[in-house]
Amino acid sequence: MSENNGNNKLRSQAWFGGFDTLNFTHRSWLKNQGHPNDMFDGRPVIGICNTWSDLTPCNAHFRILAEMVKRGVYEAGGFPMEFPVMSLGEVLMRPTTMLYRNLASMDVEETIRANPLDGIVLLTGCDKTTPSTIMGAASVDLPTLVVNGGPMLNGKYRGRDIGSGTDVWRMSDDLRVGRITEADYLDAESCMSRSDGHCMTMGTASTMACMVEALGLTLPGAAAIPAADSRRRRLAHLSGRRIVEMVSDDLRLSQILTRKSFENAIKVNSAIGGSSNFVIHLLAIAGRIGIELAMDDFDELGSHMPLLVNLMPSGKYLMEDFYYAGGLPVVIQELKHELHMDAPTVNGATIGENTDGTPCYNREVIATFDEPFQKDSGLAVLRGNLCQDGAIIKPSAATPELMQHRGRAVVFEDIDDYHARIDDPNLDVEKDCVLVLKQVGPKGYPGMPEVGNFHIPKKLLAGGVEDMIRISDGRMSGTAFGTVVLHVAPESAVGGALALVENGDMIELDVAGRRLHLDVAEDELQKRREAWQARQPHTERGYVSMFLSHVQQANTGADFDFLVGKSGSEVSHGNH
Ligand code: FES
Repeated sequence: MSENNGNNKLRSQAWFGGFDTLNFTHRSWLKNQGHPNDMFDGRPVIGICNTWSDLTPCNAHFRILAEMVKRGVYEAGGFPMEFPVMSLGEVLMRPTTMLYRNLASMDVEETIRANPLDGIVLLTGCDKTTPSTIMGAASVDLPTLVVNGGPMLNGKYRGRDIGSGTDVWRMSDDLRVGRITEADYLDAESCMSRSDGHCMTMGTASTMACMVEALGLTLPGAAAIPAADSRRRRLAHLSGRRIVEMVSDDLRLSQILTRKSFENAIKVNSAIGGSSNFVIHLLAIAGRIGIELAMDDFDELGSHMPLLVNLMPSGKYLMEDFYYAGGLPVVIQELKHELHMDAPTVNGATIGENTDGTPCYNREVIATFDEPFQKDSGLAVLRGNLCQDGAIIKPSAATPELMQHRGRAVVFEDIDDYHARIDDPNLDVEKDCVLVLKQVGPKGYPGMPEVGNFHIPKKLLAGGVEDMIRISDGRMSGTAFGTVVLHVAPESAVGGALALVENGDMIELDVAGRRLHLDVAEDELQKRREAWQARQPHTERGYVSMFLSHVQQANTGADFDFLVGKSGSEVSHGNH
């Protein structure tokens, strides 16, 4: 039984403690589920925020995880209350889940605040279900703990391992140029996704799982446990016990999410070769909890970190291998001289105490700090007249020979123009050109989809070209690879310089010098700027209209302007 039992300090007691009409109502209606009187006696009420949905296959096992969390909550003397929130399934939602990340965060924030909850367990898995729930919870700032759903088992295809996303891109190119058949393609689908869980490459979901562990928001070692492994259920059970203690200790999200924990997360993300989406989501979370964080921090803190994890898309292995090798605690220990090892975590110990002495069982999967798989692995932040507020590139997923390059621009005005012309045999393009895609930013698409790693022209692919520089204001799937410049800000839809690029312009990329330059005279650019006209808004009604009015640019996290910061957990009035 929690030491809070019997006192009236808990927020939930504003609903359940007392004998007025409302207290009767609150207790009585919940009793229709069979809860006895003593469930309302002042014990912590724990909200289990469930992103389960049949439409989000990566989170389809979350009803079981929620039951495990409940076991732990009951054991520790708490009262678990599971509730659903908007679930963002990466593979089915159109035009892109990123259009709905902020909406889902509003659902989480308002549901937590409006209800008699003292502590929160967030069940997260597929890409956006992690940042959206943390953003919402951060704006309320109750004691909060994350239970992530875990990755799928390794894909197994005709004697070799295949990874979600990463091998889809490869096989799609193989099918386009006839290297494999449609029957091969169908067979690979079944072999790739063969268990519960999210993408098992170091894509965005795995990156987010590692991010929350590095931030200190999960119990130690949570990120890599496969969804199908019984230890994932045990973790959920233990998390249920722990959140009750966190409420007793009043250990709130803002005590875990400090500048130190954000710096740790940035360095860890570099060492694991994490997704470029990490940048936009961490910026948005920082904005909610009130931590100063800028795009340049990712470069300054992370770009010189060594690559310690050999996982697709940067490397060879998958999350299941990462778990058996020791998982994220090994990486944290290897980085111990770089990280703030005194940063607190949800279990009450520091991140250093939680990982101290963790052995590594496979050095082909996790390298030592002194002998990394690659030096300087983090994301690079580019500046220049083509991206005045910044752009990013992931060097570990790029082609080294293209990191310094000057090429002729081949411009696509939007995604429809791209699809109409990319495989046209008459397209004037050669391997040294720079492909530019406009109108795929936050406002342009709208929603900033993961199209930044768009396919290169079929005729060049068939000729053996595997990579070209691609530039856009969109994002890239965390499972993707290539020499791809992303998140260009300001975006083309608001008149950023990307909007002014024309076919034949010369573009210079210099990753070492952090420079992205459009080699066009300023007076010519000024003429184009004056002639440029914004497109009509996609719609003037509904949520998308609100999105277009309030979404900010990628360099600050693409949150809504009115959601930055927090409102806390206070509710001013009762419901009658
Ligand atoms: Fe859900 Fe990749 S599609 S994690």
